[in-house]
Amino acid sequence: MEIPNFDSVDRTRFSDITWVPEIGSTNTALLDRARKGGSEGEVIIADLQTQGRGRRGRTWTAPPGTSLMMSILLRPPPGTLSPDNASLITSALAISVLTAVEEITNIQLEVKWPNDLVVDSPDPILGSGDPGYRKVAGILTETMIQQNEIEAMVVGIGINTGWGQVPPELQLTATSLDVLAGSTVHRTQLAQKLLENFETEYAALLEPSGKENLLLRLREYSATLGKQVLVHLNEEGETKPIKGQAINIDESGRLLVELDNGDIQAVSVADVEHLRLDAR
Ligand code: BTN
Repeated sequence: MEIPNFDSVDRTRFSDITWVPEIGSTNTALLDRARKGGSEGEVIIADLQTQGRGRRGRTWTAPPGTSLMMSILLRPPPGTLSPDNASLITSALAISVLTAVEEITNIQLEVKWPNDLVVDSPDPILGSGDPGYRKVAGILTETMIQQNEIEAMVVGIGINTGWGQVPPELQLTATSLDVLAGSTVHRTQLAQKLLENFETEYAALLEPSGKENLLLRLREYSATLGKQVLVHLNEEGETKPIKGQAINIDESGRLLVELDNGDIQAVSVADVEHLRLDAR
């Protein structure tokens, strides 16, 4: 397994990076640090998580050393980012990762709304439940809010870097950068590059025109816009599916879906399936 060789990234706020062989969850550990007064820019990276968490209460598991599993602690200054816009941090990290991946491997990832990084599947297996893309990474952003201001945020990402072939039960839905690149992808290099990129994206997002610029790029890198989608809304504990076309991402990062009756629904939290033409 790779030996980590850095604890800070020059010219960034990431000057306190800890790489641990094993942890419950890097997000949980940093949320704990945040509660105890931890500073913006603290980063934890783990080779193995025993209680890794995904969105919406799911678990996130990966064999030791096969993924870059990293969490970052942020404290946006008061007035720079409202709790309503917190999801834009997820987008800023997503863009930082996909540009880092492109720089290192030439692989072009896209953002599947709201928080997945996916690659187009070159040979989708028709009629088999194949969604036409494979997930490479997922992001979990957790926010501590006080008096309608963001007090702290932990943004965590798991990137499949070195799985080799993924297990058969995941082959229709996931893949790994080493498989796509046909060579080893070094987690240290990827971690450094993405933190450099994230420094730029995060600083820009906190500027007055930052939101608008980020949204333009998010739309450009979106795998979801223009697709027919099935959205699983969660309302009062019940899951309600809606179907339509993903037509835009609004200024708060919500997905705008045009329903079959012409109504437009803004979706802020949900699971989204892309529907393939042959599956409709
Ligand atoms: C998802 O796709 O549901 C989000 C997955 C996020 C996983 C990462 S791995 C590092 C960090 N620590 C966690 O427990 N979860 C995130």
